[in-house]
Amino acid sequence: MTKIISFESSADETSVAIVEDGHVVLSNSVATQINSHQRFGGIVPEVASRHHIEWITRVLNDALKTADVKPNELDAVAVTYGPGLVGSLLVGLMGAKTFALAHNLPVIPVNHLAGHIAAANFNQSVQYPALALMVSGGHTELVLMRKENQFEVIGETRDDAAGESFDKVGRLLNLPYPAGKTIDEMAHRGQATIKFPTAMAHEDNYDFSFSGLKSAVINYVHHADQKGEQINQNDLATSFQNAVVDALIGRTKRALENFSVKSFILAGGVAANSQLREELTILLNDFSETIFIPVPIRYTGDNAAMIGAAGYWNYKQKIFADLDLNTDPGLDFDLLQL
Ligand code: KG4
Ligand code: ZN
Repeated sequence: MTKIISFESSADETSVAIVEDGHVVLSNSVATQINSHQRFGGIVPEVASRHHIEWITRVLNDALKTADVKPNELDAVAVTYGPGLVGSLLVGLMGAKTFALAHNLPVIPVNHLAGHIAAANFNQSVQYPALALMVSGGHTELVLMRKENQFEVIGETRDDAAGESFDKVGRLLNLPYPAGKTIDEMAHRGQATIKFPTAMAHEDNYDFSFSGLKSAVINYVHHADQKGEQINQNDLATSFQNAVVDALIGRTKRALENFSVKSFILAGGVAANSQLREELTILLNDFSETIFIPVPIRYTGDNAAMIGAAGYWNYKQKIFADLDLNTDPGLDFDLLQL
């Protein structure tokens, strides 16, 4: 049994978890700062790092207590070193290194995006080759994994990330940040009355683009404003969400047709979207050789348990870091290819 304690602080959640063998979550303590950032409509980096400093020891103690695990029962310390906000990443990294030094444990460097994908193992064991749709606030990628812990980005967004487009539309409609969940709920109450463009539907690749859709939504709202017309926000939410989901489904379908994979993983904050989950479930009915493994909803947003899951992949391959490990705010998958 391998017990890994993991630290995540790349954006606005401070989190520490203890995970056994990469898939059994013994504890996952998360402190969120959403309330502090809501009035600014986004994360304020300075505020975020100060919150992390305030919370990290409390979250660490809570994770140890909840799991009922003593430091001497642990095998390693996993930590997110990128991508993310440098000031936020630094707090988790310092916490993890200090804990590792104090208890004489090895440090495992973890890519936050690998963490999102590895959280699929909390649903069921991933079989390879696998394809992952990674949709978060900062990233939208189709990632091919020919084997465990190996990542090939076959498609990505050329502009906004899927989650970012939800948040920007939310801002336009004066919804609280982050707006993904609220728009998801509003979309259920509305009708698809507005025809927005589905980005790049005809292009011969696996890339995404959401900026055209965002502009179309902005134009629609401004036109209505100018004419003094009241817009139906629920209808707008439905129409917008349809366009995002269509784009994600279209590219995914193409990738599934061209790469025959045993598992299809849906990961990242936007993986909580109910319409996306439903439509992917239907799509996967046509691919009988492929099991659909969406990350369980409670692990779709940023959390340390997912870092423990990806940390275990590295642990098995003996990928450890020295105590001079630094943050890498722009880290992507390219650097992880083995
Ligand atoms: O992965 P995550 O927690 O943080 C990043 O690493 O970016 O993703 C956060 C993003 C936000 O943009 C949020 O609006 C979006 O996930 N999100 C959703 C839903 N829940 C969260 N988007 C659409 N539908 C949802 N239900
Ligand atoms: Zn994330």
